[in-house]
Amino acid sequence: MAMLDLVFSFSCFAILGWMLEVAYRSSFSRRFINPGLLKGPYLILYGAGALILMEAADLLQATTAGLAVKTLVYFAVTTGLELFSAVIAKRLFNARLWDYSDQRFHYKGHICLKFSLYWIVMAFAFEYLVVPPYQVLLGQLHPVVKGVFAGAALSFMLLDLLMTGIRTFFRMTPEEKGAADAEFRDAASPVLALPDVARLSEYPHHREKTRLDHVKEVAYISFLCGRRLSLDCGAIIRGALLHDLFFYDWLRGGPRLHGFRHHTIALNNARRITHLSKKEEDIIKKHMWPLTVVPPRYPESLVVSLVDTYCSAKDYLRLDRQGKIKKRTDGSAGQSGREKLI
Ligand SMILES: [Fe+2]
Ligand SMILES: [Fe+2]
Repeated sequence: MAMLDLVFSFSCFAILGWMLEVAYRSSFSRRFINPGLLKGPYLILYGAGALILMEAADLLQATTAGLAVKTLVYFAVTTGLELFSAVIAKRLFNARLWDYSDQRFHYKGHICLKFSLYWIVMAFAFEYLVVPPYQVLLGQLHPVVKGVFAGAALSFMLLDLLMTGIRTFFRMTPEEKGAADAEFRDAASPVLALPDVARLSEYPHHREKTRLDHVKEVAYISFLCGRRLSLDCGAIIRGALLHDLFFYDWLRGGPRLHGFRHHTIALNNARRITHLSKKEEDIIKKHMWPLTVVPPRYPESLVVSLVDTYCSAKDYLRLDRQGKIKKRTDGSAGQSGREKLI
């Protein structure tokens, strides 16, 4: 099968599989159930399963394998894929997508004999009832239609997968969140108490956000990343809070080539008001990397630089949680949940 047809088929069956699962699960629960790990209307497991089954059916036809061999292959493919997906979801995302623990002959609730038999029947139904008309349809569709559909579906899936990965990375229990917030507050408070840092609330930075809002947000998200990666969180918080320590409205004034120069201005200002470690200096100096050409020397610097880029993009694309940035109505700094921490 050509690559375009492969991607198109994967997308198609991922969506059809999602519809099948929604119908099955929702009819049992009598409410809408969105199955799977991702938010969108697709199940990667079905997309991958359909491709493997189609290839397996082709291979088996070529070898003129008997019914017993075919049954065994379909069992291995479907149950193997089900087990693989369950283990990956548990290991990487700490999620249990289904649980067969209440079924007889199950393995860790991931797979069970009854559903393995169902899958074999469905694999045969797929081969004899679904694939033939699908092949006809595939041959009739214009490549541009297939390309647009497959490209859009795959892009959504990848973005969805990325967002799910990020959510999993930051997921915390209420106790962990409380401990993290307290740790952040303790490290951030002395820096935020410095008059020059507090003065950043007087300068607009991105859209409705002041520079103080921005540095607090960058510091908090960088801190959460650093905490997960066991990095030096103290340096991350201090460096991130001081990374944009300059006192002009960069949209209306300031030095020429602000983007290439303000990290040096911020670094000099920060040196004037506090003692900086080598790592903190590097965080401030490299926060505009790759504009600064020389790459970050420490992982902490890279984290702050990436989070700074993410926060800036988010501000301009208005991708905050509510889908909109809170408008300032009283001239004071808008505060998001995480900014109310301090
Ligand atoms: Fe900056
Ligand atoms: Fe920044």
